Amino acid sequence: MKFFIDTANIEEIKSLSETGLIDGVTTNPTLIAKSGNDIKDTIRNICKIIKGPVSAEVTAINSTGMIEEGKILFDIAENVVVKVPLTFEGLIACNKLREIDIPVNVTLCFSSSQALLAAKAGATFISPFIGRLDDIGLDGMNLISEIRTIYDNYDNITTEILAASIRTNNHVINAALQGADVATIPPKILKELFDHPLTKSGLDTFLDDWGKTGQKIV
Ligand code: E4P
Repeated sequence: MKFFIDTANIEEIKSLSETGLIDGVTTNPTLIAKSGNDIKDTIRNICKIIKGPVSAEVTAINSTGMIEEGKILFDIAENVVVKVPLTFEGLIACNKLREIDIPVNVTLCFSSSQALLAAKAGATFISPFIGRLDDIGLDGMNLISEIRTIYDNYDNITTEILAASIRTNNHVINAALQGADVATIPPKILKELFDHPLTKSGLDTFLDDWGKTGQKIV
């Protein structure tokens, strides 16, 4: 499973990239607004740190505007993926951007039928939003599972399932169990994945016992 980080915060991206575990980044207008920085500068800076796919979202609502913005965003760096919403206009833009070999992440996916349409429009990634479905009492993970089954029924579907709107450690694990290709994870949750109380107590014991030997490796 690929790990993307879901943030536009450059310091967090720099720090987490040091783990060597980060395959890409996703941003959205809310995350750009939170960063307080210019979208183009932010995407350019992220692409200098992360060589894998970096999603940058369009803000136009008609396909012509999305295509125009998508081309501008893609010009920033060769690893930019243009993010478009899963709307009628968004999928027209997806189709046209894919015709000129610009990778596209179709976002705000909340149903299997939407995911099927995105695949037919040639999406590079489909982003089902797990957490936001859970928030309204539905089962976000079930959507990942349904999309996996549908996509696996057709050899010609190459769209990768990018589990988005991840809120918990369990979301990451369950998305992996359901066969999502990618999870885009907020930095806080990614850091939590490292932790287990038995790792901490086990390490404390090892270090105590080691101290008693008086030995040093270096
Ligand atoms: C990523 O591509 C999405 O924009 C993001 O995961 C949405 O997460 P949220 O529902 O926590 O805002």
